[in-house]
Amino acid sequence: MSGVIVASADELGDLPLGVEVPGRDLEVALVRVGDEVFAVRDECSHGHVRLSEGDVDTDDLSIECYLHGSMFSLRTGEALNLPATQPVPVYPCAIEDDQIVVDIDNPISTHPDPARAGHANQED
Ligand code: FES
Repeated sequence: MSGVIVASADELGDLPLGVEVPGRDLEVALVRVGDEVFAVRDECSHGHVRLSEGDVDTDDLSIECYLHGSMFSLRTGEALNLPATQPVPVYPCAIEDDQIVVDIDNPISTHPDPARAGHANQED
């Protein structure tokens, strides 16, 4: 998978990890569930708070926004309950050579608002 190295696998434990994407104006929340790693934009679609500070439901594969309780699918970014109604961008993510690689340019899902769609501009 082509992408950007955002962290080493050692840094990611049982709790979500918010990381900056090098060279991009973007932060992602990394979540490990068993052998799988997920990457979602680290911003709730309902408000400007970090999803990496929320709890993960490992059965439903979702992450909860700590502020108002909306859950988002880690696989699709879909908002699973109110008050959020819009998805959060989700990116292909893999562990390669003990590095966590995220394919920022090919999100699995996006937010309908282009400003929050997850296609972060590359910094010059
Ligand atoms: S800010 Fe996340 S659900 Fe309201």
